[in-house]
Amino acid sequence: MESSSAGQTSVIPFGETISLEQYVREIESLSKGLITKQAIADLVLRYRIPAEDLARHKSWNPAKHTRNLIFRNSMIELMLICWNSGTVTPLHTHNGQLGWMVVVEGTLVVENYRMKHCNKPENQQVVGIDCVAGATEIEMELVNTETVTPWSALNTVDKTQTIHRILNPPEHGGPAVSLHIYSQPIDSCVVFDMEQQRCARRDLSYDTKP
Ligand SMILES: [Fe+2]
Repeated sequence: MESSSAGQTSVIPFGETISLEQYVREIESLSKGLITKQAIADLVLRYRIPAEDLARHKSWNPAKHTRNLIFRNSMIELMLICWNSGTVTPLHTHNGQLGWMVVVEGTLVVENYRMKHCNKPENQQVVGIDCVAGATEIEMELVNTETVTPWSALNTVDKTQTIHRILNPPEHGGPAVSLHIYSQPIDSCVVFDMEQQRCARRDLSYDTKP
């Protein structure tokens, strides 16, 4: 992920509060045109959503983060992810998706990685999907770490930076909630088990739907 703020525009980042309903309408309307990293970034950096609108999409599981769908069509999805203290995702990829994330409560840490070595590299060059070639040696290098607080920055994934994990470190002392947009929606991703030195495709599902 990379993070950015509103940059050159004169818009105050996250300065305009709109209802979740209106936010969804704007995303849906953008999804009917050409979806670019910048077009969605402009939208995300502009608006803030009232906490009470997001509250009804929250759900909690002591064992893992929860994925709560707010809106989805064939091109785009919007979800709220709830992170208990201490939750951490495995290292994973995004299958060439574009993704945009804003923390709305608590503090999250994003660690970006790059693949340094894999013993089945010939199988990484597969059209359209991530590699699940059955590697038994995987080496990753931490590229950078970002600490993200509510409505402070937009974090993105794209085709050049796609391997990462997200954590809600216990020392932050509380739950966190983040809003995610992905295009196109996908129902699986590749996860890396660095202890076992294996990669695997993991199915993604929603814990709650509207
Ligand atoms: Fe991710």
